[in-house]
Amino acid sequence: MRLLALGGTVFVGRAVAAEALRRGHEVVCAARGESGTVPDGARLIKVDRDDPDGLAALPEFDAVVDVAPISFPWVERALEVLADRVAHWTFVSTINVYADEATPGQTPATGALVNPLRRHATRDDLTAEGGTGLYGGIKVASENAVRAELGERAFVVRPGLITGPGDGSDRFGYWPGRFARGGRVLVPASDRLVQYLDVRDLAAWVVTAFETGLGGTFDGIGPAVGLGKLLADIAAAVGADVEFVPAMDTQLETAGVAPWSGPRSLPLWLPPTYAGLASHDPASSLAAGLDIRPLADAVAGALERERELGLDRERRSGLSAAEEAEVLAGL
Ligand SMILES: NC(=O)c1ccc[n+]([C@@H]2O[C@H](COP(=O)([O-])OP(=O)(O)OC[C@H]3O[C@@H](n4cnc5c(N)ncnc54)[C@H](OP(=O)(O)O)[C@@H]3O)[C@@H](O)[C@H]2O)c1
Repeated sequence: MRLLALGGTVFVGRAVAAEALRRGHEVVCAARGESGTVPDGARLIKVDRDDPDGLAALPEFDAVVDVAPISFPWVERALEVLADRVAHWTFVSTINVYADEATPGQTPATGALVNPLRRHATRDDLTAEGGTGLYGGIKVASENAVRAELGERAFVVRPGLITGPGDGSDRFGYWPGRFARGGRVLVPASDRLVQYLDVRDLAAWVVTAFETGLGGTFDGIGPAVGLGKLLADIAAAVGADVEFVPAMDTQLETAGVAPWSGPRSLPLWLPPTYAGLASHDPASSLAAGLDIRPLADAVAGALERERELGLDRERRSGLSAAEEAEVLAGL
């Protein structure tokens, strides 16, 4: 089949393009070509989606995969130009479309959504406006437009935390990277449920979806697991010689450690008010063909990425060695 990846130069879009090529499909990536490169064997057509006519000159395709992160107008314009001409459309949305971040076990059939926002935003807008409501709202509006145009030909996937080769967020990778350095490791004492998805598993599912014509709206998540067990299993997969030093939520808060992501954070640690964010019920996704690789594979992929980037680098998420030592000393 002929696949158009709107994006395809970094992480998720690139992984989908690579998997499609591996399975013998013809792949065109439409992007500016500024964030990265397309996989070997894919063709890059340079487009600027901020230009209202940016997608006008694209050739014919059988399927589209759109990773538009925070722009309803991008999605709307792509649909105008391409929706009538393709058999299948994947839209990569996010778990942040759900309004309730506290209740575990939600599904696409049961979870209420944030209000749709037919807007374009930048990363600075997300920071200025407090993040997930704006991000989720734009994704809800985008999803709605995709389903309205494509009907049963639309495959909408809402990933939670994605890890694996090409991950630029430094979140999941913090743990294998930290364990690989050994020694006394600060870990959250809380055992709240968390979920992750390896980008290669997401890519494989997306490619199978357009190959088989799978339609519907699904969460892109693996089974939920207690953070304590997950960290112990990651340490075992790394083969690390570490001593866990657990800290209570209040101790971490007092020490100025942020949850989930960002500077001076402990990635994957969630406060109680977010107990539902990473504990959705994955049954419908697994039944629809999402295959989750063993944790050891995901850890190996994340650790390879960490080593590529440098274990002692300045991180986008996590604690530096000095920050961790400071928090440990204050416990
Ligand atoms: N990371 C996570 O854990 C996570 C979790 C949930 C959902 N998601 C979703 O997963 C997706 C991530 O996608 P991704 O990793 O492939 O890419 P991304 O970092 O979101 O980048 C978007 C793509 O759009 C292209 N692009 C940016 N500006 C453009 C412009 N003006 N015109 C044309 N193309 C432009 C970029 O390429 P160029 O810069 O080369 O143009 C890039 O390939 C997003 O939809 C995100 O919301 C991610």
